Amino acid sequence: MKLFLDTADVETVSQFWSTGLIDGLTTNPTLMMKAGKLPDKVYYDLKHLGIKDISMEVVADTSEGMLAEASRLISLFGSVVTIKVPCTPEGLKACKEMANQNIRVNVTLIFSAAQAILAAKAGATYVSPFVGRVYDQHWDGRHLIEEIADVFATHQIKTEVLAASIREPIQVTDAFRVGADICTISVPIFYQLYKHVLTDKGLEKFDQDWQKLVGG
Ligand code: G3P
Repeated sequence: MKLFLDTADVETVSQFWSTGLIDGLTTNPTLMMKAGKLPDKVYYDLKHLGIKDISMEVVADTSEGMLAEASRLISLFGSVVTIKVPCTPEGLKACKEMANQNIRVNVTLIFSAAQAILAAKAGATYVSPFVGRVYDQHWDGRHLIEEIADVFATHQIKTEVLAASIREPIQVTDAFRVGADICTISVPIFYQLYKHVLTDKGLEKFDQDWQKLVGG
């Protein structure tokens, strides 16, 4: 059961990395655009925070283009690199080639169990079903995770299920309950996982009582 952060905001990651609860990090072109920094600079800074598994998306139309960018990233950042490719014929061709070279691959933009099966056949390390975007379409994001996890368990597939596009803390619990191996979450969602109104209330009462006992 692993938790990844889904962000390219290095400053925020640096605050949360010290919790010791984060196992890796995922990025995508939209998150890079929001961070407003060049991807190589972001990857460099993330690597130097000590993050051991960083999903880096390659943007190209052909498998050859994806493989060229992957090899450039690996030459720059080494073993922390997980290459992220889309679930398309070219993406899965590149995935197969990288899997043969023992490169970790995260197949992204997964919206069906059928896509996850193809990605697993191509040797993906991770498949990324987009839970929140499935719910956006009024489909059942939790069911998608469950279906993929069931198929992988039945066929003893090593590919891990990485639940992405998570919008609420409950979706983290749900995803792990139905078999996700990893949830990648934004920093606000990570922070919300700590929170419960009764924890805050209970803590306030303990503090007051402690002060009554030992306070001046
Ligand atoms: O990891 C994929 C994730 O970043 C997509 O999230 O919120 O754009 O659907 P979202």
